[in-house]
Amino acid sequence: MTENLLDDTPATDVDILTATPAAVPAEERIRAAAQAEYVGMRERDDSAHEIRGLSAVSDGPAEGELFQWNDKEFQRNPYPYYARARRTSPVHYAGDQTYVVTRYDDVMSSFKLPIMSIKFPGHLEHNPFESAFDETVLSMDPPEHARSRRLFSRWFTPKLIKQWVQFTEEALDDILGSYERGTVMDGHFTLGVEPTHRTMARVLGLEAGTAEPLFWALWDGMLIQATDPLPGTWERSQAGVDYMFARTEALLKEKVADPGTGLADELIATHQRGEITWNEVVQNTVNFYMSGAPNPAYLIGSALEVFAQHPEVMAAFRDRPETRARIVEEVARLNPVELLLTRFPTEDVTIGGVEIPAGSCIKFPIGAVNRDPDVFENPDAFDFDRPLEASRHLTFGLGTHSCAGQMIARAEAQAILGRVAENYEAVTIAEEPVRVITDRLVAYKSQPIILH
Ligand code: HEM
Repeated sequence: MTENLLDDTPATDVDILTATPAAVPAEERIRAAAQAEYVGMRERDDSAHEIRGLSAVSDGPAEGELFQWNDKEFQRNPYPYYARARRTSPVHYAGDQTYVVTRYDDVMSSFKLPIMSIKFPGHLEHNPFESAFDETVLSMDPPEHARSRRLFSRWFTPKLIKQWVQFTEEALDDILGSYERGTVMDGHFTLGVEPTHRTMARVLGLEAGTAEPLFWALWDGMLIQATDPLPGTWERSQAGVDYMFARTEALLKEKVADPGTGLADELIATHQRGEITWNEVVQNTVNFYMSGAPNPAYLIGSALEVFAQHPEVMAAFRDRPETRARIVEEVARLNPVELLLTRFPTEDVTIGGVEIPAGSCIKFPIGAVNRDPDVFENPDAFDFDRPLEASRHLTFGLGTHSCAGQMIARAEAQAILGRVAENYEAVTIAEEPVRVITDRLVAYKSQPIILH
């Protein structure tokens, strides 16, 4: 049993006899996935998605078609394309009932309209990732969305986040305790994925286990959300989803027999009171177990690159703690990890004078909006002195579905980068990082760095 940190809540009282873990979709398939060792590891050849080199900031000329979703050059450096798109028209038709909105003001005025549904319209095929989370906030519109979000929102209050981040710091100290200064480490995995995964496991009250297979299972699972997925992606996505569910559900079943005081225990208790289905318990737990690490880790990895390329930023982080929040914000603005927000209008809508029919797919590329020169002066420059009102980027989304983990992600990043800046003089790049990327998502495959 773990200590109860939800100080305003009595410890959960779980009646193990009334839990019904049997009602899991595709149970046979998922059980099989639990027994197989998931193979989506760092060693795997994923060259179709890989890009080597530091993150792109250039605004050179954009040649050819605007939105070549699977083109390596577009993926490596989409910003010249976005700049051209913003200049030429407020909304672009990208074929296949898909529209792209790239200007900041248009996104702000249209994205939050109640007709912008997150649900796939009937004519679109449901994919393995989206179907797997159909009983979570990820697939719900208001008003049912609010009920689902209430299941977990009080676990991420500022007061509790302070306590969760203490775990992050302890985990980091443990990790750095066995690191030999001046040797090569994978910055993203060691300083990003590991401590943040352990923190989320603590929030849930689940065992952390090994983070890396979960990380790659999520990557595989989300591949199907690319605009134009490569052949074989459906199966790969299903395998990733199956692995995440198999691993998490095994832990949940142990919890039913041996309850604790984490978020997962509270979800189980809520189910036992008949308020939510077992599927909701599993889907919500998987959602947090897998989303605790990858996105914050990308933010942290990107900041490590900034520290290596701009030692003055690392010095400011060390010596002027008042700059920390703004530095993290500027890293987030220039390095969104979720690259596109997607919505499906339930009624005809006009954006920037362009009529978009109900049932279309609208893409809002975060990278385009975050570098709109009408809002961010000199938008490609890393400038953490921007006034706060000019740093309202969309890296954490906006509106009803805005990121539920943004406060903890920011706090973890500040804590981890603070420890690095305070305990080391410099970060250098040992080898060019490798990213895996689709038009929807980016992750580090490897990021060899040295802390001096
Ligand atoms: C740097 C870190 C992160 C980034 C950049 C990020 C980004 C995003 C974005 C862009 C969305 C909106 C998606 C949409 O509207 O379609 C979102 C939603 C969400 N994020 Fe994050 N995320 C991060 C960290 C986290 C963490 C650590 C958690 C877990 C605590 C989390 C949990 C969620 C959840 C549950 C939603 C759905 C909210 C809803 O639909 O109501 N995120 N995130």
